[in-house]
Amino acid sequence: MTRTVYVNGDYLPESEARVSVFDRGFLMADGVYEVVSVLGGKLIDFEGHMIRLKRSLSELAIANPLSDDEYLAAHRDLVARNGITDGLVYLQVTRGNPGDRDFAYPPEGTAPTVVMFTQSKPGLADAPAAKTGWSVVSVEDLRWGRRDIKTVQLLYPSMAKMEAKARGADDAWMVQDGHVTEGTSNNAYIVKGNTIVTRQLSHDILHGITRAAVLRFAAEAQMQVEERPFTIAEAQAADEAFITSASAFVMPVVRIDGAAVGSGKVGPVVTRLREIYLEESRKAAI
Ligand code: PDD
Repeated sequence: MTRTVYVNGDYLPESEARVSVFDRGFLMADGVYEVVSVLGGKLIDFEGHMIRLKRSLSELAIANPLSDDEYLAAHRDLVARNGITDGLVYLQVTRGNPGDRDFAYPPEGTAPTVVMFTQSKPGLADAPAAKTGWSVVSVEDLRWGRRDIKTVQLLYPSMAKMEAKARGADDAWMVQDGHVTEGTSNNAYIVKGNTIVTRQLSHDILHGITRAAVLRFAAEAQMQVEERPFTIAEAQAADEAFITSASAFVMPVVRIDGAAVGSGKVGPVVTRLREIYLEESRKAAI
């Protein structure tokens, strides 16, 4: 089946979808994105992703081209047209096509470009890695200073992912001034006793939608949550470690820079948090 994608209001076979070479997203990475997961044909945490999308657009002074209802309808249409049961919807909004290359923003009224597509991932919630855990390696965080804006400027995270693979790991944890910021495309956590530690929100990290939900569920499950930076050494000495994202949900991390975390096996806290997250999100899915 040919995938149907969304471009500026049209639903097209992917081979017919076109964006200008002058699009600011292509030339300047001048755009933002969201990834919403789909389980059982329904959207997970959709409202949170839309709130963050609008914040990202507003921080970059890009006009928001669609209403929440229009975004929702397009997400649902794409899921239906592509027969997605489990997978993702990727949404990107750029500052559009000014018709030439210029560092200055285009005149007001230039239409943003909106692209959406689906990725089918059957059994997304049953990823085998959730049973064995990921290994991560640390790399210096060389990204720009506004990581709270979900821009399409993903070259450094891609380089870090490739470095992780070259070192035989699943992902990289980025480190700034000796403290972990986040993973290449996920938020990072450690567990010590009954306490979950994760970096506090700031311009240094993306404000994960999965993070917000997981911290809420952790508090409801009577766990302590400390929002503060932690070092790689502290993480290696923790009982458990994990990451969260819309595509991996809650994923255990069992090895950091070659050192086993706790027993080196997936622990009870991350197992429980993953179960709660998946159960509650499926219930609230729309
Ligand atoms: N990435 N931190 C970074 C740098 C991210 O790119 C992401 C998401 C997260 C987790 O955010 P959320 O829980 O809202 O997905 C944290 C998406 C999944 C991606 O780039 O594919």
